[in-house]
Amino acid sequence: MTSKSKPSEHPSGDERYKSIDRTMKRAGYQKDALLEVLNVAQETFGFLSEDLMVYISRHVNVPLSQTYGVATFYHMFTFEPLGENNCIICTGTACHVKGANKIAGLVAESFDVEEGGTTSDRLFSLTTARCLGSCGLAPVIVINGTVSGKETPDSTVRRVADMLNGARSELAVVEAT
Ligand code: FES
Repeated sequence: MTSKSKPSEHPSGDERYKSIDRTMKRAGYQKDALLEVLNVAQETFGFLSEDLMVYISRHVNVPLSQTYGVATFYHMFTFEPLGENNCIICTGTACHVKGANKIAGLVAESFDVEEGGTTSDRLFSLTTARCLGSCGLAPVIVINGTVSGKETPDSTVRRVADMLNGARSELAVVEAT
């Protein structure tokens, strides 16, 4: 039986691969599905590991170099696990014009994290995206999935600080129990 007719199971037995298998199967293991499959992989695992990209490449029959090419072209893909909390700053044109880079710069400096990076305690990741589709609210950020518009560097730093204070106190409660 070929991989075209049967979704193969990842040898790790990790259940998360099933959503990738389902997506590839639905698309008939066609190369055209590469972007969609990468999206599902990113959503399911939170980042694209080398193992994921090898697995996907094999099953949709695309050279690994091409899979890397697609994944690195699009800004929404990440290649390292994100921290427990994250802030995405839109750096698309409308947000850029309204000072997104200043926001990103102050957040990076205030929380000692590089753009695209994660703090050493893995509590916080700072990433950027090209247009989140809410240009009328520029500059736009997303903190743990919640979109906020018309941000300033100071307002974003406050939001991130509040989020991290909340996360740290939750952590302290868990550790104490
Ligand atoms: S450019 Fe930022 S939301 Fe469109």
